[in-house]
Amino acid sequence: MSKILVTGGTGYIGSHTVVELQQAGYGVVVVDNLSNSNIEVLSGIEKITGIRPAFENIDCTDYVNMDRMFEKYPGIDGVIHFAASKAVGESVEKPLHYYRNNLLSLMNLLQLMPIHKISNLVFSSSCTVYGQPDKLPVTEDAPIKPALSPYGKTKQIGEDIIRDTVFANDFYKAVILRYFNPIGAHPSAHIGELPSGVPNNLLPFVTQTAMGIRKQLQVFGNDYNTPDGSCIRDYIHVVDLARAHVVAVARMLNKENKEPVETFNLGTGRGLSVLEVVHTFEKVNGVKVPYRIADRREGDIEQVWADPSYANEVLGWKAQETVEETLRSAWRWELNLARKREEKK
Ligand code: UD1
Repeated sequence: MSKILVTGGTGYIGSHTVVELQQAGYGVVVVDNLSNSNIEVLSGIEKITGIRPAFENIDCTDYVNMDRMFEKYPGIDGVIHFAASKAVGESVEKPLHYYRNNLLSLMNLLQLMPIHKISNLVFSSSCTVYGQPDKLPVTEDAPIKPALSPYGKTKQIGEDIIRDTVFANDFYKAVILRYFNPIGAHPSAHIGELPSGVPNNLLPFVTQTAMGIRKQLQVFGNDYNTPDGSCIRDYIHVVDLARAHVVAVARMLNKENKEPVETFNLGTGRGLSVLEVVHTFEKVNGVKVPYRIADRREGDIEQVWADPSYANEVLGWKAQETVEETLRSAWRWELNLARKREEKK
């Protein structure tokens, strides 16, 4: 059984990926410092798969403890590196935290991997590296535009660090995955997104508003150059996204990769506006989402959606879930969170 280290494995995308890895027969070691996640996520994973993954509470910027962790779990075959800070606004306020956390953790891994004879890395990148693309849908060879936030820069620089390291040393192999907008939750509703405080992202704000936790959703702008005036994104079910990581790891383990570094867009190829998301959510779940049109949010891209055909062809992976099912899964998860809150009372 191949063994995979998942950093950030109790986070939103990380936890869904741990489930898919375990269900595909991989052994998993999770490293997470729980800075933006909860230890109870491990129980959610166990409920779904019947297996509680090995867990170490370590900050990936801590070289010494990461080294010890690799000693403790010999025979790791690959690393999927999710652990990173991801709040765009916070990154503008705390740039050094973002550069230190997101880049040092990656550099530590790259340094430690050859010492522990691990050559395969999957890296979480983002469609944010494209900025507002000149052509839509966006393909992997679209130019990288100057990032608007330190968060975005850490993804661009992270990609560069990987490419430079791999080209300097043919020991390594890497797959860079550029995520579009992951939403939804595992169909079991045992794991999902757990935003701390007021959510920045659209879907958790929508589900919390439908639940009555927030009074009203603000739709940031209806005067964009799009059919209904609101921004357009490529929303992808988090389980579809998670499955792509299993495929990417297997590709390197089976030595199927054509280049030492390969980069893939992970999206559905379908753009949806904010208002379409809100109205579809209301329709499929039979709930109201009170909203008002607000000013544009600074730094927002008008529209972006993926051309996923390279991933579809080369990885043999395709986003499967419908937007309706994705939005239903998001609501089931919010209902489950409400039930858990009630139980705790
Ligand atoms: C954001 C980040 C992106 C990051 C991703 C990961 C920016 C510019 N981009 O993507 O770099 O990888 O999160 O989490 O912040 N919206 C509302 N009301 C809300 C919240 C959002 O109308 O309360 C709208 C936004 O204007 C946007 C869409 O919903 O048009 C999606 O927003 P969000 O979920 O924050 O994702 P992105 O901004 O696409």
